[in-house]
Amino acid sequence: MFTPEEARRFVPRGDGDPGHDVFLAWELLYRLEPSLYDRLASAERLHPGVVSWLPCYVDRIAEVGAGTGRLTMELAGRGGEVVAVEPALPLRRILSRKLASSGEAERVRVVPGFFDQLPLPSGWADLVVACSAFTPSAAHGGEAGLGEMERVCRAGGCVAIIWPNHISWLVDRGYEYVSFAGAMAVEFGSYAEAVELASIFYPQGADAVRRRGSSTVPFEVLGINPPRDLVFKVLPG
Ligand SMILES: C[S@@+](CC[C@H](N)C(=O)[O-])C[C@H]1O[C@@H](n2cnc3c(N)ncnc32)[C@H](O)[C@@H]1O
Repeated sequence: MFTPEEARRFVPRGDGDPGHDVFLAWELLYRLEPSLYDRLASAERLHPGVVSWLPCYVDRIAEVGAGTGRLTMELAGRGGEVVAVEPALPLRRILSRKLASSGEAERVRVVPGFFDQLPLPSGWADLVVACSAFTPSAAHGGEAGLGEMERVCRAGGCVAIIWPNHISWLVDRGYEYVSFAGAMAVEFGSYAEAVELASIFYPQGADAVRRRGSSTVPFEVLGINPPRDLVFKVLPG
């Protein structure tokens, strides 16, 4: 189910067993069960501080690893032109449907691409952003991917990585760290969905979810880091 370009990045070596490679398991999920992934991402909402940190309006925004649009839908009204780069075709389809039904399809272009090969000219964007997608590994960004995000950003523009998983790696490369305080919970559509999705994605927290009997589950109950952090760099003007 991978294109050759995807296979080169996501299955570079090893036995191709998602039981041994959690990143491969996520890539398979995006392609085999995209709606299941979308239900999870929709429940894990970003901290409101992260959303209000975004610029109110800039001319051009590039988002990399847009998925089914958790961040894209927030960006849609904030850019004259928004390009959402996403390699997985099934996720692009869901995102395009959401944009069409919210009337934002004109303003947001959903395109295939990868961190290390962005289909945009140098200096094109005022804001280049990724949410829960960039990692220091070459398959999901790495040095080449960060270099590409900075290439696509104009002088004086901003590169931001939201919900980063290796903050110190980015701080070492000149990024500033911001974190928003306050309690945060995953907001599932119902208690039944909380039990179902926790059993699949967070089995270590599934019993606690059952005991709580609620559709709202604090992130710490599931043992995951809440989406309250970001790092950013303003490129020299
Ligand atoms: C956890 S999802 C996050 C999606 C979305 N940004 C969100 O916050 O809901 C990670 C996303 O990164 C994308 N991705 C993985 N490797 C990538 C790469 N090398 N270049 C661009 N995107 C990539 C995946 O296809 C997936 O959509």
